[in-house]
Amino acid sequence: MPKLIIKGGRVLDPSQGIDEEIDLCIDKGVIKRLEKDILEPEAEIIDAQGLIVAPGFIDIHAHLREPGQEYKEDIESGCRSAVAGGYTTLVCMPNTEPPIDKPWVARYIESRACSVGLCKVLPAGTITEGRKGKKLADLWALKEAGCVAFTDDGSPLMDSSLMKKALELSAQMEVPIMNHCEDDRLAVGSINEGEVSSLLGLSTRPPEAEDLLNARDCILAYYTGGHVHIQHLTTELGVEIVREFKAKGAKITCEVNPNHLLLTEEEVIGAGANARVNPPLRRKRDREKLIEALADGTIDCVATDHAPHHPSEKGLVDRAMPGMIGLQTALPILLELVREGRISLMRALELLTLKPAQIIGIDRGSLKPGSAADITIFDADRRWTLNEETNLSKSRNTPLWGRELVGRVIYTIKDGRIVYKLH
Ligand code: DOR
Ligand code: ZN
Repeated sequence: MPKLIIKGGRVLDPSQGIDEEIDLCIDKGVIKRLEKDILEPEAEIIDAQGLIVAPGFIDIHAHLREPGQEYKEDIESGCRSAVAGGYTTLVCMPNTEPPIDKPWVARYIESRACSVGLCKVLPAGTITEGRKGKKLADLWALKEAGCVAFTDDGSPLMDSSLMKKALELSAQMEVPIMNHCEDDRLAVGSINEGEVSSLLGLSTRPPEAEDLLNARDCILAYYTGGHVHIQHLTTELGVEIVREFKAKGAKITCEVNPNHLLLTEEEVIGAGANARVNPPLRRKRDREKLIEALADGTIDCVATDHAPHHPSEKGLVDRAMPGMIGLQTALPILLELVREGRISLMRALELLTLKPAQIIGIDRGSLKPGSAADITIFDADRRWTLNEETNLSKSRNTPLWGRELVGRVIYTIKDGRIVYKLH
């Protein structure tokens, strides 16, 4: 592999507080140096003038659907979509068929991702056997097989005693327990409970369903010392709960899905089933609070919850499968918040790189010399549209389909190798 020099870009690295026009030299898959005007006659050059050079993005919540639901997505198509969105590392969710509740499934996924060779895929194991919420899976064996987190995502873990045990184990294992927080006795329907559900006569998932489990998990983290990670936080009160318990010293982190930073419940009126997601799109004031919490640090990272579904599963809202694709739209959504002055560009990148790396304890998300050369180069002003030509997922379920977006990835580099280049 020849040396690679990224020339003339604006390098932004939250891990070092760097925001500077500077060159970056990569050798043997590792970042060698960051300096002005690097000259290396035999090196390959990437001209990054006018572009932003950042650490490769890390998504700790993606559904790749393999094994078992390859008609929606597979590891290869998911990774293609990921690198086009600037991601070099993904944590894939275990609600596959079979679920990632046995070491062999975790190993299968890692080896498939390795042979695809685009981005790193780290599996999350289930908390309970078969995601049934009845009996803990063998978390030690799953960790041994490469799982970096545990979650029954898609289904909440309702049993408080099992959640407590899982968090006690988390404290010993130093692996986060991630929960999809929605009380399944209250969240039985399809969209947020409020004006839009009344208007359209649709079944509901009220915000208190989410707040109850969020609060329970924060309380259990407080008592056990385990690390709880709240997945896809969506409510105003939820932000306050997390803030309160973090202040008490509990080990809590949380993520937000970029779609919840852009869209609200009204979206269902126009986009129908494509606007259905669990937890659902909420009110404008929830969205506002989430953006504030991004800026003040209550929310730790952005995670896409990329959830591909086949068009036949996205018919009537009340019968549709929940979820939206999101790997290629996360960056443009965050850049919109940057343009609106709601968060700084440095913070946006921290939410996509350093913070998610810290949550799962991996040594990525930095451009420090000696780090693996995982790099995303993007044009913050480039206009484009997500459509048949640009979408690389097998699915197209997002309300952003056909909408103009601003901000596009030009190169993605993984371990010093160009794994995506915009043509
Ligand atoms: O909307 C969702 N879709 N939320 C989840 O938690 C699971 C996901 C899926 O797997 O489709
Ligand atoms: Zn979920």
